[in-house]
Amino acid sequence: MKKLAVITGGTKGIGKALIEKFADQQFDIITCSRNEEDLKELSNEVSSKFGVSVHTFKVDMSKKNQVLGFVDDIAKISAHVDVLINNAGLFIPGAVHEEEDGALEQMIDTNLYSAYHLTRGLIHGMKSEKSGHIFNICSTASFVPYVNGGSYCISKFAMLGMSKVLREEMKEHNVRVTSIMPGATFTASWEGADVPEERFMKSEDVADAVFNAYTMSDRTVIEEIVMRPQLGDL
Ligand SMILES: NC(=O)c1ccc[n+]([C@@H]2O[C@H](COP(=O)([O-])OP(=O)(O)OC[C@H]3O[C@@H](n4cnc5c(N)ncnc54)[C@H](OP(=O)(O)O)[C@@H]3O)[C@@H](O)[C@H]2O)c1
Repeated sequence: MKKLAVITGGTKGIGKALIEKFADQQFDIITCSRNEEDLKELSNEVSSKFGVSVHTFKVDMSKKNQVLGFVDDIAKISAHVDVLINNAGLFIPGAVHEEEDGALEQMIDTNLYSAYHLTRGLIHGMKSEKSGHIFNICSTASFVPYVNGGSYCISKFAMLGMSKVLREEMKEHNVRVTSIMPGATFTASWEGADVPEERFMKSEDVADAVFNAYTMSDRTVIEEIVMRPQLGDL
């Protein structure tokens, strides 16, 4: 039987690169986003290219009731998830003192509560099997307070906090937890930025780093990965 990876926000950017990487390694995939057409396209493309099952669900991960519904849908496919990657995220640039009212709530809902509720929904299967690997896609904005990072930084600091706590909690259950901190990576999040593509990291490099961390023996966990463009932060 193939292993199963749940990767949120899989239709674009880093999420799509992660799906291609794990599908290439013969994982079946479960993913979600808010756009049904994109999900259909992704599912057809990945299943025909890699010969794996790709289950897609239209879910708004910023809504708790939809995340809990997604947990139920996943349980109908399999009781055990081998890899969970909390990737779906939203970046609205701004400064704490200037950004629009609601920016904090929107990014905490999408970047933090999404991962919190999904992880809580799936982790019991991992604990009872004493196996599994959770990756939380944080950011260099999880530990560097960027000007114009505003509430995005707040949400990503919190995401790293959750990831570190989870790592401690899961030690005794043999579930590995890894926090990924990428710097600027060329994806839809950066559309419209007046910076050449070569200045950014590739999504595929983030996916390779995640997969490499997954391949460690059971005796080792890579707790944190920090990645930046060769020329540094933008
Ligand atoms: N790109 C960077 O420079 C960078 C750097 C550090 C960390 N990160 C983090 O990496 C992750 C992926 O970023 P990215 O740049 O690859 O983003 P992206 O290209 O904008 O793609 C985001 C993916 O998540 C989905 N998504 C967004 N909001 C969602 C929601 N509420 N519910 C369900 N799905 C949702 C999107 O699909 P729909 O919009 O159709 O729902 C899409 O599939 C994020 O957590 C981001 O913070 C990115």
